[in-house]
Amino acid sequence: MSKALETEPTKRRVFAIISHPDAGKTTLTENMLLASGAIHQAGKVAARGEARRTQSDWMKIEQERGISVSSSVMTFEHQGLTFNLLDTPGHEDFSEDTYRTLTAADCAVMVLDVAKGIEPQTLKLFEVCRLRDIPIITFINKLDREGVDPFDLITEIEEKLALDVVPMQWPAASGRRFRGVVDLRTNQFLTFAKPDSGDEHTWTPMDGNAIGAAFDDDALWEEFSEEAELAREYPDFNEQSFREGHMTPVYFGSALRKFGVLELINALAEFAPMPQSERAKKAGQDVEIAPTDKEVSGFVFKVQANMDLNHRDRIAFYRMVSGEFKRGMKLKTADGKGLSVHNPVMFFAQDRELAETAYAGDVIGIPNHGVLRVGESLSESGKIRFAGIPNFAPEILRRARLEDPLKAKHLRKALESLAEEGVTQLFKPAMGADMIVGAVGSLQIDVMRERIKTEYGLGVQFEVPPYQTARWLACDDDATLKTFVDKNMVNMAEDIDGDPVFLAKSSWDIGYAQEKNPTIRFLTTKERR
Ligand code: G4P
Repeated sequence: MSKALETEPTKRRVFAIISHPDAGKTTLTENMLLASGAIHQAGKVAARGEARRTQSDWMKIEQERGISVSSSVMTFEHQGLTFNLLDTPGHEDFSEDTYRTLTAADCAVMVLDVAKGIEPQTLKLFEVCRLRDIPIITFINKLDREGVDPFDLITEIEEKLALDVVPMQWPAASGRRFRGVVDLRTNQFLTFAKPDSGDEHTWTPMDGNAIGAAFDDDALWEEFSEEAELAREYPDFNEQSFREGHMTPVYFGSALRKFGVLELINALAEFAPMPQSERAKKAGQDVEIAPTDKEVSGFVFKVQANMDLNHRDRIAFYRMVSGEFKRGMKLKTADGKGLSVHNPVMFFAQDRELAETAYAGDVIGIPNHGVLRVGESLSESGKIRFAGIPNFAPEILRRARLEDPLKAKHLRKALESLAEEGVTQLFKPAMGADMIVGAVGSLQIDVMRERIKTEYGLGVQFEVPPYQTARWLACDDDATLKTFVDKNMVNMAEDIDGDPVFLAKSSWDIGYAQEKNPTIRFLTTKERR
């Protein structure tokens, strides 16, 4: 084994930030890049967060795809480690993109607003992390504003997320009274320098004169010392429990005031796991692919149409799982389609660079003409197939109706292409010629509608069909499944892989069908294999 193949994966950390909109994800991202020296000037990322706030701006960004392509992955270095931060779209509306991005992350930072605690989207994103038991580091943000009592926040996390919570730091008040945080392991206090004071946040030992200077308010000091003692009563941090996704360490800070951000990066450096082995099928056998395995392998977790609308170029975001990738290498999909990767792109905060070599934990962008779909496995032998990029049962279904019926073939191609890219899902009903598109969030439908119009020039009405939801079907006995499919032809459809899907008017209908057919599984997720 080459030395680099052994050591490089140990230096990679792949993580994502999950949060409810406005909790401060963009600000934190920017200040992480600043703190690590990856960018030198504020404003780059924030401008993006700002522009995203309205849907029309978001659509514009989506159309000028270059911008979001380069920001989907951000790489920075710190303490000799390479961090790949995967961007989960920060829109109020939920999309499958977010789910899929999380399947490529090894760790997540959960950002909470100290005044708001767990919000609806935090919960949704957390549930996705839980599907894979991704370890989570909690960052409670905006301590420079009045917040909820941290003990109550911890109880809320414990109760709503069923996680063991360990504060690694404890804050001295919040808002106007905020003085800083104590590191409960080292007993050092990080004093908060008031904005515009010209001071810097500095570390001070908890006892001695220096700390006295930070606390000109005796009552506050008393309150804080008591609370910090109580905070020590929480269980000790247990790395194994964290890695298994059962325990979350909690940090406090203010992204906007650059307070606690470096400490958070240090926590990631210390605790976020290096790339791990991934389960896969190799030539039909269950195997574990280790980062140090010689064969290059990985999977595509995101596909994005390229800037040039005249060419249907796409960039596939490929998360490496094993091997030593070299530019120009020939890789194959699990269906045997080969492609030579001559122009792989790596994403640094402000630039894109050609990737000469890459290892497990790296994310490279592979330009292609539609060969690579979301969920596709790509390896040297073409025999490795990773599980784990799920499709989610759509919560919104629409029937596509053409204004010009002669364009049916074009529409089918367009919808198939968008489904391959993962923009929306596509279902072809067993009866009738209409096609049904599905999405988890309504923004996906808007993006699709816009792209059908601008890229494909098709006039299409999207109508509400007589179904509301869909389930993938599975059964250990093929004959039972076939009988069910034949009997329920009016409700049956095929997805883009030809797998059977049951379209239902309501979840009550699904419950009823399930009760009548106990050996058939009605699945809300499907893992692409
Ligand atoms: P998001 O990506 O999670 O949606 O949040 P974003 O970073 O855009 O932050 C949302 C708002 O919260 C922004 O204010 C941002 O400045 C503010 N914010 C983020 N972190 C902190 C913090 O630690 N303390 C305080 N006080 N505010 C914070 P905005 O008014 O919506 O935008 P802007 O005009 O300040 O850019």
